[in-house]
Amino acid sequence: MGSKAMIFDLDGVIVSTDEYHYLAWKEIADRENIYFDRKINEQLRGVSRMESLEILLRKAEKAYTDEEKLAMATDKNGIYRDLLNRLTPADILPGVNDLLAELKRRGIRTAIGSSSKNTPVILEKIGMKDAFDAVADGNDIKNSKPDPEVFLVAAKKLGELPENCVVVEDAYAGIEAAKRAGMKAVGVGFASTCPQADYTAENLAKADIGKMLSL
Ligand code: BG6
Ligand code: MG
Repeated sequence: MGSKAMIFDLDGVIVSTDEYHYLAWKEIADRENIYFDRKINEQLRGVSRMESLEILLRKAEKAYTDEEKLAMATDKNGIYRDLLNRLTPADILPGVNDLLAELKRRGIRTAIGSSSKNTPVILEKIGMKDAFDAVADGNDIKNSKPDPEVFLVAAKKLGELPENCVVVEDAYAGIEAAKRAGMKAVGVGFASTCPQADYTAENLAKADIGKMLSL
């Protein structure tokens, strides 16, 4: 039987904010003289703010106190929030609006499943505050991806069983989270070569809706 609901990651799937996360972390790393590049940044996809910082600090030459770590994470979020001010509906990624319209036409319910605590402000900025039937985000969960919690919360908010849900992700951690939730996983963007995904496409404009719903 086909899927009845589709759960979307936000950063890097719906909107190009993944680039802003990189720029903000890069500023923090440069300030602290810590080596950080786009390859290391790929490990931060889907991972919470504090866990992202811990990954970045693996290249640090000194130890940081919890207080200093909190200050760095807060500074990163400040830089990131400033970048978010630039967001407009033009930053919605290719294929997203067409796919959502088609899902609506077919009666398939949709949700956001994101680790980000900034989800509400991002949805507002891109004009998608009411575009999904449910939103589960970093404010709803204790454990971030690859833990399945955020997707299970999204399914619960939709009133849908996990096995009827298909998740769309750009993070390997997100694909793992979807599988651990007992859901089907579609990999796009950075996860479009993820072997654990049930289906992959370069982006949502190139994804086959029939195939995604029959996984
Ligand atoms: C995820 C991003 O969507 O949200 C991660 O892929 C980010 O890179 C995480 O760390 C948490 O985001 P925020 O906005 O709560 O700092
Ligand atoms: Mg993402």
